[in-house]
Amino acid sequence: MKKLYVKTYGCQMNAYDSAKMADLLAPLGYAAADKPDGADMVILNTCHIREKAAEKVYSELGRLKTLKAQKARDGGRMLLAVAGCVAQAEGEEIVARAPAVDMVVGPQSYHRLPEMIARTARQSGHALETDFPALEKFDSLMPPASSGVSAFLTVQEGCDKFCTFCVVPYTRGSEQSRPPQDILCEAQQLADKGAREIVLLGQNVNAYHAEGWGLAKLCDAIAKIDAIARIRYTTSHPRDMTDELIAAHGSNPKLMPYLHLPVQSGSDAVLEAMNRQHRADDYRRLIERIRQARPDMALTSDFIVGFPGESDADFEATLQLVRDIGYATAFSFKYSKRPGTPASTMRKQVSEDVKTARLDVLQKLLLKQQYEFDDSQIGKTVPVLFEKRARDAGQIMGRTPYLQPVHVQADASRIGRIADVKIARRTANSLHGALREDVLA
Ligand code: SAH
Ligand code: SF4
Ligand code: F3S
Repeated sequence: MKKLYVKTYGCQMNAYDSAKMADLLAPLGYAAADKPDGADMVILNTCHIREKAAEKVYSELGRLKTLKAQKARDGGRMLLAVAGCVAQAEGEEIVARAPAVDMVVGPQSYHRLPEMIARTARQSGHALETDFPALEKFDSLMPPASSGVSAFLTVQEGCDKFCTFCVVPYTRGSEQSRPPQDILCEAQQLADKGAREIVLLGQNVNAYHAEGWGLAKLCDAIAKIDAIARIRYTTSHPRDMTDELIAAHGSNPKLMPYLHLPVQSGSDAVLEAMNRQHRADDYRRLIERIRQARPDMALTSDFIVGFPGESDADFEATLQLVRDIGYATAFSFKYSKRPGTPASTMRKQVSEDVKTARLDVLQKLLLKQQYEFDDSQIGKTVPVLFEKRARDAGQIMGRTPYLQPVHVQADASRIGRIADVKIARRTANSLHGALREDVLA
């Protein structure tokens, strides 16, 4: 067996892609390793969303160069591949900066990896594939070799929205939806491997449309698979939240009451400069309609602070929106200039100090809301889907319908099953409770 080490950065779609690459290389004799030392192949599946994410890749490549030289001294060869969004965005530049790299493969062409490996074995130099052969990769992927209790399933990829700060339309290409039958087939395969929850993925997953199907219809069809108890989807764009999808949250009981609906900012001026194409009040009204369909919906979002031109008043409008909505949890980032995006050349860039100060204020508010939301579960009995053993001996970890992690003293045979848990307390990142039957006993 040859050893394959894959390191994943960035979003859930990269995690899905990493699993697919590993499945693709298994027939060539590659088995997953948990560290790069001595590996025959290393894949860095990279993210380009912020400068820090992209730079991490180069420091990792520096470390790998040493391991690769070590492997060569031992008479072997370590193939080094850069995949993902940095590969797409920087292409040849990666090899210029890091000559130890053998392969650069974009997110839409990694199904060509086996052929690239063969090519690199035959000739010296490196292989580069950064085409966008629409949806071709999905046709060449293997059925999943295994599945966790919760499984990702990419249904849509790419983005046509061109928010002025964002690289995704350039790294993932234009919006593409997979045919519904392919998705249902993969959902069934995942269920057969033990999945109880499916998380549908897309850069704009609620923009899914293929053969007259929208995301609501897709969720309804997946709900017919008995073994699948829970369905989630991420990430959504406010503009693609259709009436049909909102209604599905009231009618499809397997659709979990948890929605990641990024708004980025609460200021109309900033939203316009970002090209989000909606106002803050449109978002407020949308959330109201969603909560009418599903009153207990937990909401989450992404926020960017320090977008070019963001004033104190603009930032205050973001804080006000957060107070108005009340989030279960949320991600927030300092604006990061990305090469080739319109916002990177906008005048009135915000200073690093101001970004840091605003991020701190926003994150404190969001954390306060998160604790309030988590604390509101204490004393309640909630259905928890158990996913894995916890680090503490004798404990297992699962999630509430609202995606909160819960730790419980229970036998590992519960993993993959749903049980009622009475929530007793919260620590920084988790809820803790006891199985309902233990409470009764
Ligand atoms: N498709 C998703 C988001 C993909 S990127 C959407 O439209 O919501 C994930 C998050 O990274 C974004 O929601 C945004 O908050 C953040 N992000 C993207 N580009 C960024 C940049 N240049 N600087 C800082 N954060 C950024
Ligand atoms: Fe990026 Fe905007 Fe597309 Fe989301 S909708 S991926 S933030 S361009
Ligand atoms: Fe990063 Fe690409 Fe995902 S830039 S966030 S890995 S789509």
